[in-house]
Amino acid sequence: MRGVRLSRKEITTDGRRLTYFDEGSGRPMVLLHAFPLDASMWEPQLAAVPPGWRLLAPDVRGFGGTAPDPGPPASSLDDYAADVLRLLDALGIDRAVVGGLSMGGYITFALLRRAPARLAGLVLADTRPGADTAEGREGRRKLQAAVAHEGAGAAARSMLPKLFASETLRARAGLVDEVRRSIESADPAAIIVALDCMLHRPDSTGLLRSIRLPTLIIVGAEDGLTPPAESEAMREEIAGSTLVVVAGAGHLSNLEQPDRFNAALGRFCAEAFRAEGSVRS
Ligand code: MLT
Repeated sequence: MRGVRLSRKEITTDGRRLTYFDEGSGRPMVLLHAFPLDASMWEPQLAAVPPGWRLLAPDVRGFGGTAPDPGPPASSLDDYAADVLRLLDALGIDRAVVGGLSMGGYITFALLRRAPARLAGLVLADTRPGADTAEGREGRRKLQAAVAHEGAGAAARSMLPKLFASETLRARAGLVDEVRRSIESADPAAIIVALDCMLHRPDSTGLLRSIRLPTLIIVGAEDGLTPPAESEAMREEIAGSTLVVVAGAGHLSNLEQPDRFNAALGRFCAEAFRAEGSVRS
């Protein structure tokens, strides 16, 4: 998130500007960021890409390097998924391991619906397959109104207390502040659009049993937004999947416990694809 060492790349395809981080070389993996952050949240993973892998972290339309979005804005998570496919096409990548954290996971489910043949494996971090409840939709509409009225600061105020483990909130003011600044700098219009896309997303639970891909599920032990019980339920439905519960992390497990998160990702990369030939790219 600090943007110290890593620099974004950009590409324009189908008249749309896509921005992304691209580190390492080898088998491609795409990681999609959480709401309302941007691709720089993957900095700890981009700085330690598993050997033999290439990690791509795109900004979701309207966030990070793509803000402000010149339009047309996304009308559903499928539009965000289409941008990921555009990026893979532009880079000549046929299949990739794809995953994401929270909203990034919702977009991964959209890809699973739209283009399963493009996926070589899944990483589902701090996410859930279900649609929003009526109460959840109501909360999103309230947040849309607050952001329209007050700007991105309203999103930071609403989200921050829910994103971290208690110990992170207590003892890691630097990280909490960094995430606050990232949310506050997001484009309010993109936040409102993303909330709309998420509140209309379909239930993907029925997809889980049909998944035949190497799948890593990761969740912070103290994730209150997408609790470990949801990840355990996904593990039971997805044949052969692995679940890692990250101690000392809340919802932003990759930022709160990067070493534990990276160790889980590294094991998955080394073990789940050992028996395969290379993932085509
Ligand atoms: C996220 O981290 O992407 C959000 O918490 C997702 C959501 O609001 O459902």
